[in-house]
Amino acid sequence: MPSTVLDSARWRTSWDEVMTGFVPGLSSLEESWATATEAVLGRHPRCVLDLGGGPGVVAARMASRWPSARVTMIDLDPVLLTMARSCPALTVLDADLGEGEWTLAAGDGYDLVTAVMTVHYLRPERIRALYRRCRRVMSPGGLLVVADVMPDDGLPAVMGALNPAPGEAAAELAWAQWWGEVASSPGFRPLMAARSEVFAGRVPANFAGDVGWHAAAARSAGFREAGVLWRDGRHAALAALS
Ligand SMILES: C[S@@+](CC[C@H](N)C(=O)[O-])C[C@H]1O[C@@H](n2cnc3c(N)ncnc32)[C@H](O)[C@@H]1O
Repeated sequence: MPSTVLDSARWRTSWDEVMTGFVPGLSSLEESWATATEAVLGRHPRCVLDLGGGPGVVAARMASRWPSARVTMIDLDPVLLTMARSCPALTVLDADLGEGEWTLAAGDGYDLVTAVMTVHYLRPERIRALYRRCRRVMSPGGLLVVADVMPDDGLPAVMGALNPAPGEAAAELAWAQWWGEVASSPGFRPLMAARSEVFAGRVPANFAGDVGWHAAAARSAGFREAGVLWRDGRHAALAALS
């Protein structure tokens, strides 16, 4: 089904509102990594990869900021991939980040790799493997930015065990409503069926390692330096230099 028939632009806009409910500082996060990337590289990035890019909203903003960059995103959700493909500035890959094959499809030479609210879906050992694979597809001197729920050191590493953040219940409701509206749109029926198959038996890990955990995992994956780039409440972004 062509994404124009599905009015993907409208869904992508409302997705952005839902994600901003989960991560109220999303725009400051994006500005932080853009500024850091330009400072570290001394130029605009040429090759950008967004991991778990959903409908491609964040990736599309990077493509607008850096129009000469090749911007690629990866996801495995058939609904979100279809929406992302409505954005001509993006190369959209269908792959599982919990496995290794995505590196073959993605190629290499990336000088910025981002992951926003993606890695908590994976178990800790898969996140470690993901960081090793990121290192392999990145250019020396490139930047990895991983933003997720990363509480202060010492708090439980499972999202459900943390105190709810202000606005979280409303964000969860908006997420459920968004998916409910997609499911009740007749044009999405085949994609929703495909989505059910992809996610059958797949349980999100809801892992919420602290920044120290992510920094250690990045260093043991071969990144030279790793630390906090940005924090807003219990959300934080790790930046790691390849
Ligand atoms: C909460 S959404 C965030 C999407 C996007 N980063 C954003 O901020 O708009 C998490 C995304 O990760 C994707 N995802 C989860 N597990 C994945 C996996 N194993 N491989 C690829 N994508 C995955 C989901 O399909 C979803 O699009």
